[in-house]
Amino acid sequence: MELTQRPRRLRRSEAVRSLVRETSLHVDDLIHPLFVTEGKSTREPIESMPGQYRFSIDELVAECQTLSRLGIPAVNLFGYSTEKDDMATGSYDPEGLIQRAIRGIKAAVPELCVQTDIALDPYTYHGHDGLVIDGEVVNDETVEVLCKMALSHAEAGVDWVAPSDMMDGRVGGIRRALDGAGYTNVGILAYSAKYASCFYGPFRGALDSAPKKGDKKSYQMDPANSREALKEIALDIEQGADVVMVKPALAYLDVIAAASATFDVPIAAYNVSGEFGMITAAAERGWVHRETAIMETLTGIKRAGADMILTYFAKEVAEILK
Ligand code: PBG
Repeated sequence: MELTQRPRRLRRSEAVRSLVRETSLHVDDLIHPLFVTEGKSTREPIESMPGQYRFSIDELVAECQTLSRLGIPAVNLFGYSTEKDDMATGSYDPEGLIQRAIRGIKAAVPELCVQTDIALDPYTYHGHDGLVIDGEVVNDETVEVLCKMALSHAEAGVDWVAPSDMMDGRVGGIRRALDGAGYTNVGILAYSAKYASCFYGPFRGALDSAPKKGDKKSYQMDPANSREALKEIALDIEQGADVVMVKPALAYLDVIAAASATFDVPIAAYNVSGEFGMITAAAERGWVHRETAIMETLTGIKRAGADMILTYFAKEVAEILK
């Protein structure tokens, strides 16, 4: 056969493959989500997420030291709050769990970029990301509480706040609140295109934060839409988001690709708990090779256009890449 192009020539050896490789995953692309709980010297295994833990603050700080030593640049904190009420007042308590966790980490590992989730679900009985008034998740009243929450994290020393609530106007509200108090250096990683997804199931088990009634479809996006994602992202950039996120990642790779082609801000993607669970469970059964599945998945998310990836595999990947 006479062929001028034989693409297989570029696949003949690992050396050649490495020369033509278009995408590579680095430890500095990774953000490790971590769960925090009250107590001392505890690492509670999370049943719905094998290998992940709820850390007491002392253990959390130790884990952050390990992650930082492995080269992971950032962590994203979620609180397992027992302080629940109708107004989510626990979310902005200056002595709250997350506020103390931020101070602990920044004192011990100042170089680590500490990010925190901004949403009310762990702090309300009903488990919604916003306040519920007359059966409805209300927007503007929720934004006021989210601003207080973000401000209390800024006072504790957070680097970036990450609003995951999907209320309208919250990025602008938080930006104004932070700037008004002099926290112009605190960044906003906005969950801009966050879909109403079944893939958050294991996470809600970890935080005991599943909505008691109804679902989150009146604020999180319909999985069928992509133009709407670009609109949400554009609005968040206008309002001052530094980084925008698409979440989940795997069923939304087209959205990641469209976002990175359309906007000139860094794009984050969240490899969520259900995606973690699919690889974990299939690997346990011997159906896929765990390490290879993790690397292939995260490389795919990066190839789609993500500049940074939140993933529960971050520590494992850092160890693999070493
Ligand atoms: C809370 C929040 C959720 C996740 C991140 N922040 C759950 C939800 O919206 O119900 C999901 C993360 C994951 O599944 O890994 N607003």
